[in-house]
Amino acid sequence: MRNGGLKARIAVIPGDGIGAEVTPQAVKVLKAVCSSAERPLEFVEFDWGADKYLREGVTLPPGGVELLREEFDAILFGALGDPRVPSNQHAADILLGLRFKLDLYVNARPVELLHDRLTPLRDRTEKDIRLIVFRENTEGIYVGVGGVFRQGTPDEIAVQEDVNSRKGVERIIRYAFEYARQNGVRRVCMSDKSNAMTFAHGLWQRVFKEVRQEYADIDSRHLYIDTLAMEIVRDPSQFDIIVTCNLFGDIISDLGAQLAGGLGLAPSGNIHPGKTSLFEPVHGSAPNIAGKGIANPLGSVLTSAMMIEFLGWKPQAEVIRSAVRAALQENYVTPDLGGNKNTVAVGDWLVNFVGKNHLAKQLK
Ligand SMILES: NC(=O)c1ccc[n+]([C@@H]2O[C@H](COP(=O)([O-])OP(=O)(O)OC[C@H]3O[C@@H](n4cnc5c(N)ncnc54)[C@H](O)[C@@H]3O)[C@@H](O)[C@H]2O)c1
Repeated sequence: MRNGGLKARIAVIPGDGIGAEVTPQAVKVLKAVCSSAERPLEFVEFDWGADKYLREGVTLPPGGVELLREEFDAILFGALGDPRVPSNQHAADILLGLRFKLDLYVNARPVELLHDRLTPLRDRTEKDIRLIVFRENTEGIYVGVGGVFRQGTPDEIAVQEDVNSRKGVERIIRYAFEYARQNGVRRVCMSDKSNAMTFAHGLWQRVFKEVRQEYADIDSRHLYIDTLAMEIVRDPSQFDIIVTCNLFGDIISDLGAQLAGGLGLAPSGNIHPGKTSLFEPVHGSAPNIAGKGIANPLGSVLTSAMMIEFLGWKPQAEVIRSAVRAALQENYVTPDLGGNKNTVAVGDWLVNFVGKNHLAKQLK
């Protein structure tokens, strides 16, 4: 917080496609919640994305990372990806660039069922599906170490290294345990594939065994990733916190998103505790529906709630979540959730709900 917790500076990067449609809805809900709570937020928008890249050849501008790190408390991000840029170069430079250069080592992906009708699992209710996945966000196979040999020949070989450092593994596992303790959550499950990936995930095993000893108050266990995939579908109520590597976290959190209503509802945070962190809906730029005004803004709105909770404003985050729950209850939603409302109408409804809502008034 740049000035004593009274005000926060938010960098807004709407990006491409539906990112530019849903992000303004999140911003207007944030403004409604925080103005009624007399907690000012300052927003500065950045036009980084495909248009700028095609116009100026610029992806992540020089000095951009330093500006965000030094001048802003958090980044509210939309999505990147445009059919006019088949290489996706701008998205890789900007999004992966920010994740790596800001050292955002925690990818937090909550999986929370906000209305019973939204889960594809039979007989499961809101109380059964409430967990969070902490995905390691700076290492693993995503670092791009590897190469191809004899490319284009029948003898071609491709290698992609899975990079795991002790520091990297320890800090994400420790974050999961600390989160459990600070949020009164009882259970942490670490998942890997150490039976097959004996070197890379042997390290995860050793670190997990060491760190869990410091958290005897937390109920911790290990599951191989294939078992976890089965168990999370069979009985999601057995999980509070899942901590895992970059690749497995990517996959298992998408599986989780589907258990709780799909991509249009899934929020995420790219976090380094105490430093400028980036919050984005899990979905991409959805070129197939971009420009039609029907993108679901709730994933972005829930993302904004995560962001202000990260900034220490938990009551305001709860107001936003209540508003989203109410919209789902009223079925005031976009077509992907079975409704007939458009993106802006859903945003307006949330703003109106927040204005009238007694919870917001209590925050004054
Ligand atoms: N973090 C990011 O910026 C990010 C993440 C994923 C994909 N992408 C990029 O987005 C582009 C499209 O990728 P994709 O099609 O694989 O994934 P996507 O998430 O954009 O879309 C997948 C499907 O879900 C639907 N969908 C997604 N979000 C929705 C919403 N809010 N409301 C209603 N429907 C929604 C889309 O219409 C589409 O049918 C690609 O360029 C990809 O690289 C970016």
